[in-house]
Amino acid sequence: MIKQYLLSPGPTPIPNEVALAMSETMIHHRTPQFNKIFDEARDGLKKLFGTKNDVLMLASSGTGAMEASVANLFSHGDRVLVINGGKFGERWLNISNAYGLNPIEMKVEWGQAVKVADVEKQLKANPDIQGVMIQASETSTTVLHPVKEIAKLTQNGPLFLVDGVTAVGVVALPLDDWGIDVLVSGSQKALMLPPGLGFIALSDRAWEKTQKAKLPRFYFDLNLERKNQQKGSGAFTPAVSLIFGLRASLQMIEREGLQNVYARHDRLCRATRAGATALGLKLLAAEDPSPAATGIYLPNGIDADAVLEYLRDKMNVTLAEGQDQLKGKAIRIAHIGYMGAFDVITAIAALEMALRKFGAEIPFGHGVAAAQEVLMEALA
Ligand SMILES: Cc1ncc(COP(=O)(O)O)c(C=O)c1O
Repeated sequence: MIKQYLLSPGPTPIPNEVALAMSETMIHHRTPQFNKIFDEARDGLKKLFGTKNDVLMLASSGTGAMEASVANLFSHGDRVLVINGGKFGERWLNISNAYGLNPIEMKVEWGQAVKVADVEKQLKANPDIQGVMIQASETSTTVLHPVKEIAKLTQNGPLFLVDGVTAVGVVALPLDDWGIDVLVSGSQKALMLPPGLGFIALSDRAWEKTQKAKLPRFYFDLNLERKNQQKGSGAFTPAVSLIFGLRASLQMIEREGLQNVYARHDRLCRATRAGATALGLKLLAAEDPSPAATGIYLPNGIDADAVLEYLRDKMNVTLAEGQDQLKGKAIRIAHIGYMGAFDVITAIAALEMALRKFGAEIPFGHGVAAAQEVLMEALA
């Protein structure tokens, strides 16, 4: 048996406590026993999303929750502003087009966060915009967008839809306090679960808008789901075992304390960045890093995909690839979810070794030492 290290930004590693909860005997989903577990998970999600409103659990991946938000909030031809700074910004665009919306695409250079002033300009120039869509953490570029500041621009204006798939449970995104209208996430990231659950929370004004929105919906009818979920189950068969696991993962987060969870992600991110920088490598997100994952350019002439393959197949360390224009040039090291100091050390040490194998002049231990300096903070 050879130990595997999963350091990708989703699916992420699963703690034993969560795995054990998911292996509980199956129960029927219309029973008081299930209702109790479901309600406890609902309460935990509300704290995590920072809202008094419902956070609905959908049997889908994160994209299903994104699609549900579009289908429930808009009508054919509605104008929306899509902030597109990576693969997942592109996803908002694709969903909007698939549903016949009229999106204005705001392209942001990969590796950079959107500028709030540019969003403001677009909103002023296009007063008919009904919704603004963004990623809190754009996983493909490992950038964190300024959600709090943009939320200020959309108060009393267009709805603000935030993809928090790799941000919920990583950074604070309090829906009610910041005036976010839609916040979506997925199970296989900071919630330390297998893939299969999508989450979505709506503000009061977004719920009102669902009554006027005319796009077709059936499985993802959020009003139908809310009615059922308030009674302790789903409109359709919920992902029972995943919800057992969700309750356990939310309990773990609560025990650690949400602020500590955020601080841990921030620390692991800074340690990873310090490690990569000490090896002379360039970071993908120079200025606005997401604490979910760190994108790193590999030295010119080294094929990043070949390095990743070597890491995975020879060293059992799974990191993530660069996507689209970053393919073959960059890698991403995740530090989201059930991750700690020694996951960062593993990633940096493995990278040092693999790069040496591919001919880079890498002094062993320099990256690890720089990461250790940051990680010591937690041991003060
Ligand atoms: C920021 C972001 N949005 C959306 C998604 C899509 O989620 P899923 O693959 O769960 O559908 C991902 C997946 O990695 C993501 O990182």
